[in-house]
Amino acid sequence: MKNTNDRDLSIVVLAAGKGTRMKSHLPKVLHRIGQKPMLAHVVDTAKKLNPAQIIVVYGFGGQMLKEAFKGEENLTWVEQPTQMGTGDAVMKAFPLITPNHRVLILYGDVPLISLGTLERLLQATNENSLGVLTMIADDPKGLGRIVRNPKGEIERIVEEKDASVKEREIKEVNTGIYATSYTYLNKWLPKLNNHNQQKEYYLTDIVQFAVEDNVSVVAANPDSFQEVLGINDRHQQVMLERYYQQRCAEQLLHQGVWICDPARFELRGTLKVQEDVSIDVNVVLEGHNVLGANCSIGPNCVLINCEIGENTKILANSVLENAKIGAGCVIGPFARIRPGTVLDQDVRIGNFVEIKNSTIAQGSKVNHLSYIGDTTMGKDVNIGAGTITCNYDGSNKHRTVIEDDVHIGSDSQLIAPIRIGKGATIGAGATLREDAPAFQLTLTHQLSHRSQDWTRPKKKGSSEEPLS
Ligand code: UD1
Ligand code: CA
Repeated sequence: MKNTNDRDLSIVVLAAGKGTRMKSHLPKVLHRIGQKPMLAHVVDTAKKLNPAQIIVVYGFGGQMLKEAFKGEENLTWVEQPTQMGTGDAVMKAFPLITPNHRVLILYGDVPLISLGTLERLLQATNENSLGVLTMIADDPKGLGRIVRNPKGEIERIVEEKDASVKEREIKEVNTGIYATSYTYLNKWLPKLNNHNQQKEYYLTDIVQFAVEDNVSVVAANPDSFQEVLGINDRHQQVMLERYYQQRCAEQLLHQGVWICDPARFELRGTLKVQEDVSIDVNVVLEGHNVLGANCSIGPNCVLINCEIGENTKILANSVLENAKIGAGCVIGPFARIRPGTVLDQDVRIGNFVEIKNSTIAQGSKVNHLSYIGDTTMGKDVNIGAGTITCNYDGSNKHRTVIEDDVHIGSDSQLIAPIRIGKGATIGAGATLREDAPAFQLTLTHQLSHRSQDWTRPKKKGSSEEPLS
């Protein structure tokens, strides 16, 4: 089994456990780490071994599982209607395994198993051996113990419930991950029985069958114990989530990203970075984000599926989703950039500004308290504070076009569909219902009206004389 990248490998993922302790309607393996279902972590790692097939043994929520993984090739689902043990689960998968394949057995609720560890296990295992991933546990409670003979060879695995007091003291435990083969499973699975404390078919019994058949049992160890931790409840889930986040932050630090505080960094998806990126505290990155060279993300920002150009600054408390931001822009603080926004270079979006489904060309500024929706904005435009594009007539959305070098005075409303011609200036407080001509000043407000014989209304019953 030296070459781990050939096509004679089948992977079986055991995922039939109900996950009662999650207290949730979701099948356990659809609960997430880094916003990705734990089973997807396992499947993605498994796929990196380039196996011919991945067989998932499920017990609950088959519909939900298949829905969550639709479009995933090489994934075969097999139901284990009653959970009668890990051995029974593998028996359910066995008829689907291609004869003569090597077989790697994984758990769907052990999400962070690494490629390196699996490669090591496969490399340690040849056609005359059975590979078991074991580790030394400080607290082996609840886990199967690895029983070795005086020569140090693995003899069998004993479940805690079946173990003697002496065996319970053993610190080397079974992680439940094995490298074996179709041929061996074909020989050993029919020999499994449920004559044990839990009345379950224990897959672990294959170890003693191997010894009986003079097949050597070899052990490999994971890089870290967190890799082989299973999730049964929310507490274990959140502990692994924190470990996962820490690992993501470390990987990014190694890539040269400045992460202000790895304990307050949250990656829920993928992140591509160029050099000299800096990320302040409490930034949440969801989906697929790309950060250009020398860009900085201020504290408390949320970025969902964004591409940020080089030298751009996203200032504190800004939320950006499905947006493409050019180079040299400054966004925020407190900006909201909604889906479909494309900003060219050197655009400035200031505080309390919402941009949706709009393109804004180079050098334009929307600095304060504005809503720009369904808009095509040219270059070097200046939008005054409080400007609103009224894009919605109650039934339909309409576009606003603002050509190059337009200046819009503060507190203006542009009622779409509308076009503001190149170089136009709109006086403050305008309510524009018609296109504004290029290079002209447009004012829509009326002159102030004054009344001399007006008196300020009096509160009922008040004796106070109005001011004169
Ligand atoms: C098993 C091992 C134990 C090992 C431990 C590591 C056996 C008999 N024992 O313990 O030596 O230390 O894993 O976590 O194998 N599953 C099914 N169908 C079933 C039973 C289990 O698909 O009928 C799946 C579960 O969803 C889970 C995995 O198998 O992903 C392990 O099941 P779990 O009950 O957590 O482990 P144990 O059997 O207690
Ligand atoms: Ca069990």
